Amino acid sequence: ADGSVDIPVVVNVLYRTTAENVSATRIAEQIAVLNADFAGTNTDASKIPTEFSSLKAGDTKVRFHLIKTVRKATTKTSWSTNDAMKKSSTGGIDATSPASYFNIWIVGDMGGVLGYATFPESAGQWNDGVVLASKYTGVTGATAPYNLGRTATHEVGHYLNLRHIWGDATCGNDFVADTPTQTGSNGGSPTYPLYNTCGGVKRSVMFMNYMDYVYDSAMYMFSSGQKARMMAVTSTSGPRAGLRV
Ligand code: ARG
Ligand code: ZN
Ligand code: CA
Repeated sequence: ADGSVDIPVVVNVLYRTTAENVSATRIAEQIAVLNADFAGTNTDASKIPTEFSSLKAGDTKVRFHLIKTVRKATTKTSWSTNDAMKKSSTGGIDATSPASYFNIWIVGDMGGVLGYATFPESAGQWNDGVVLASKYTGVTGATAPYNLGRTATHEVGHYLNLRHIWGDATCGNDFVADTPTQTGSNGGSPTYPLYNTCGGVKRSVMFMNYMDYVYDSAMYMFSSGQKARMMAVTSTSGPRAGLRV
């Protein structure tokens, strides 16, 4: 009744090498990162600047629990964002009931892509879910500087209707009122405070938001406006209500 949701997760692993066959321990570690980041209990939440502390989501009321892991060996050396990993007819693994389960596909190399996601408009379709490159999944054995499991946090943000914080345009719109408008994406590990000007208004940039493009160690918050958007999607009347089992 408080809008809490515990999302059932199916993890689909497509591996060519043993390194790509991400262990059950590491998958559990990734789910634990999601649960901490979405509960606001991530230890680096202490780094949220005072200026933004009243805007932080804290507990988004969204949690995740693993239902099952499906594994399949492949000879494919690289993947792309064309959804091939989501269909057995194209060498992938078919989603398990995507209307009621959140499907994650873990694949080997995707070029420079760390992960990608479908928005709630795709709810329940065969391709609905999140794809992660194996080396940026979990923490132990993952590749720096994307080795804190935050690619999943970012992609799940998209899956739950969040846009990039810069609105994918110069001073673009992310449809969240409490995230300050940004001129563009930020990368690396920016130093706080960072200012930019959009429409003649100078603002301090919330580059530590999970929906920016900074390193894993440089992102540690959702805003309360982002929480509201995610909760709306998973509410009983939202497009992802099917995840409430
Ligand atoms: N969709 C983004 C990409 O593939 C993911 C960015 C994740 N950022 C991160 N710090 N893990 O480029
Ligand atoms: Zn993104
Ligand atoms: Ca905004």
